[in-house]
Amino acid sequence: MKKLLLVPLALIFMLGLAPSCKHNPYIPDGILIVDSTDLTQPCDPNVVYFINQVQPILVSNCAKPGCHDANTRAEDIDYSSYQSTIQSETVEPGRPNNSKLYEIIIKTDPNDVMPPSGNTPLTADQKDLIYMWILQGALNNGCTETTCDTANQTLSANVQPILSTYCYGCHSSTAANTSGAGINLETYSNLQTSVANDKLMCSITHAATCFAMPKGGTKLPQCQIDKIQSWVNAGALNN
Ligand code: HEC
Repeated sequence: MKKLLLVPLALIFMLGLAPSCKHNPYIPDGILIVDSTDLTQPCDPNVVYFINQVQPILVSNCAKPGCHDANTRAEDIDYSSYQSTIQSETVEPGRPNNSKLYEIIIKTDPNDVMPPSGNTPLTADQKDLIYMWILQGALNNGCTETTCDTANQTLSANVQPILSTYCYGCHSSTAANTSGAGINLETYSNLQTSVANDKLMCSITHAATCFAMPKGGTKLPQCQIDKIQSWVNAGALNN
């Protein structure tokens, strides 16, 4: 119940009514609201962060060319940045069930749901993250992992969740041909191809010889890159 305190507080901050204190306010139960300008804040597992968790999902699945990117703006909705997401008027901070962004991703009718058929469906976890982010005030917040464990990385537990967040919107079995230049990173055998030709690491490290990935998004946090590199170095196993 204490989490409900976040909502009025978040609104006060969004409206700029907060006193001009620059430190981050602590809510009594220890939940931290992180100001947008400080991405070096340690990640709090109770907080959903726009920059780390929500933006990559929107970029990979919604802000695609021909859909809700800055050029196309289908239905006048642009999910390519925080500003444009808020301006789309599909997010009501604190009220996910009144927010079009959330309502449309949980539709059960295949004719109504977003992303539309032919695209990668959002996972339950991705829908939950968007729900919690809106509930917590739809802030432009971000954080940095204070520790990065790169030991014993497996495909299923470590690498696939990263690819799911940042890449499957375009490079899944479903979407590869329409959005991902035919490159499928979802099945192991196809993923192996991108490992073997070195394009996987080359694209996510933004090396000059490759197209920078994720397309239309910002570079992955260093910790995620290091985790994938560690899995590649250990032989890119199907584990
Ligand atoms: C919005 C769609 C989209 C997203 C998200 C995306 N890609 Fe791509 N990817 C493309 C397209 C389109 C191409 C073809 C090159 C181009 O047009 O930039 C491509 C090309 C590639 C290539 C080939 C690069 C080369 O130089 O030949 C690799 C590897 C790749 N992507 C990996 C990834 C990875 C890994 C992620 C996630 C971290 C990712 N992509 C996210 C659309 C996307």
